[in-house]
Amino acid sequence: MDTQRGIPRRPRRLRRSVAVRALFEECRIEAADLMAPLFVREGEGPPVAIGSMPGVFRFSLEGLVTECRELAALGIPGVALFPVTAPALKDLRGTEALNPNALVLRAVRAVRAAVPGLLVFTDVALDPYTTHGHDGLLTPDGQDVDNDATVAVLAEMAVLHAVSGTDFVSPSDMMDGRVGAIRRALDVAGYSGTGILAYSAKFASAYYGPFREAVGSAAAAGTRALDKRTYQLNPANRREAIADALLDEAEGADVLMVKPAGPYLDVIAELRAATRLPVAAYQVSGEYAQVHAAAQMGWLDLERTRNESLLAIKRAGADVILTYFAKDLARDLIRSGPV
Ligand code: PBG
Repeated sequence: MDTQRGIPRRPRRLRRSVAVRALFEECRIEAADLMAPLFVREGEGPPVAIGSMPGVFRFSLEGLVTECRELAALGIPGVALFPVTAPALKDLRGTEALNPNALVLRAVRAVRAAVPGLLVFTDVALDPYTTHGHDGLLTPDGQDVDNDATVAVLAEMAVLHAVSGTDFVSPSDMMDGRVGAIRRALDVAGYSGTGILAYSAKFASAYYGPFREAVGSAAAAGTRALDKRTYQLNPANRREAIADALLDEAEGADVLMVKPAGPYLDVIAELRAATRLPVAAYQVSGEYAQVHAAAQMGWLDLERTRNESLLAIKRAGADVILTYFAKDLARDLIRSGPV
């Protein structure tokens, strides 16, 4: 280094003050980027806490509507609704999924009526409705999920959701050909305006644990942990994830989603480069639980870790982020400005 002539490149010039850092900041989270996943249950009464997800609740229909009003007022554009199905309504074939008055459909109608500007997304998959907790119908020997039989049910289910007023159906089970079948069924039924946000690169992840507890799909007592590896992606496989996501695009998906988000930033970045569709990312229950658990131990700062985890997802290329932090973050953005 020629110290006489000084150091020619001084990157720290762009970091010297609050103003210069703000001016050259490459990305920023806004409430408009976020969607809140919400759990809805039968019955009345106050929100029921979920042990492994501090600050997340199972809402009654009425509580759900109140929460949605608050989220809309904070500038959150959309919510993803997840029903907690009563065990008595579950069976081997998930028949409750096709009940036109199922809890999730009543929830969609209630939210649409009370908070018209808020977008409603609903999962199209069988796991909330099956006693075995799998996302589809099992083959006769019970050893695998029957892809094509499942897809036929998903297409019917998607139409029921569209009729109830959902803005986007979200096929979340990674069955082959589901996006195309759902698109055709929606169009034939006259719902060409209903969108598809596809869980396109959904990995067989350990990070879904708290969610399965929250909705009660963690497999029947006494059975081993649910193994979804015959349909969800292998966490080791990036190429396969991109190929599968591009198939969803070809089949008519409007938005492609990567899930989980934080541990799969490389997949988000590569998918962002591979498609011109919006890319969504789902910061899942385990990612949320991890931050909260460490903060409770006094080992991590809750807000800063939360913000950094979401910024990383945005920086990787996500246009939309589903996160259980949505409400808290939107509140803090109003109170303390951009993160
Ligand atoms: C259902 C579904 C799951 C999640 C969203 N939709 C769980 C699973 O596939 O077992 C997980 C979300 C989370 O962990 O926050 N198909």
